Amino acid sequence: MIGTPVFFLKEVVMQTKWLLASDIDNTLTGDRPALDALRAEIEELRAANKLFLILSTGRRLSQIIDGFEQEGIPVPDAIVSQVGTEIYLPPYHRGDDPLHAWRDMLMEDFSREEALKVIDGVEGVEMQPEEFNTDLKVSCYLDSAPDPEAAVKKIRTRAEYNSDGLCQVVWSSGRDLDVIPTAAGKGNAIRFVINLQKLDVENIIVAGDSGNDRSMFDEFESGIVVANAQPELLHLKKEHPISTFYFAKNSYAGGVREGLKHFGVLPEEGDTK
Ligand code: GLC
Ligand code: MG
Repeated sequence: MIGTPVFFLKEVVMQTKWLLASDIDNTLTGDRPALDALRAEIEELRAANKLFLILSTGRRLSQIIDGFEQEGIPVPDAIVSQVGTEIYLPPYHRGDDPLHAWRDMLMEDFSREEALKVIDGVEGVEMQPEEFNTDLKVSCYLDSAPDPEAAVKKIRTRAEYNSDGLCQVVWSSGRDLDVIPTAAGKGNAIRFVINLQKLDVENIIVAGDSGNDRSMFDEFESGIVVANAQPELLHLKKEHPISTFYFAKNSYAGGVREGLKHFGVLPEEGDTK
């Protein structure tokens, strides 16, 4: 048709005021009464279409589903699991395949064999159980290494120079080391969900406690670090003296609630809505 105007409008599927992307272990979990209070508040915001919730975790899908039933973890709008190598959209069922679009994209540039070479022969490396090792994630423990920090340094150098920059090393809690595609990680996976779902979000807030949460703080400006966080995340304070990250005084879900109050997502004590 001649003369039909063409508009390049961004198609928006969902508009929401807030997006919270939160880690699970030691960020939401650790203080059940505080998590119960937070979950009730989150559910209220979600019912009013004001909040989109992403759980962003190192766990596998089955452990997350167990957590809904046994640990009071809220059922989210999207799941980023296995340290940002898998994405799931609702409804969630045990045994679901992860989102193909994300998996296929990551598989293009990653080889488990190459990733294994990065940790091969490093003293003290102990492989994590099979279920935590996938085509897209090589995971081991390093806490029995004679010098875990030196081992991590060695592994990082190998990843940088020997893997053509195709894998990244994620080091958490003085124990867990993951080798995953450079294009993966929690921050990248959350960005992928936002684009895929064509979310129009006013404010994005991330929350975490350890090294595998780091990529969320690198990707997004507003973040909550809970008081019980590991040194590698508390370090953000020194790296970004002027930043919009909020270092909570409370631990676990209590710290997340405190942060959500700080960012204005939840009313401060005594505020009337
Ligand atoms: C979770 C995963 C584990 C990973 C760790 C840190 O515990 O199960 O494989 O190493 O998170 O990312
Ligand atoms: Mg954690």
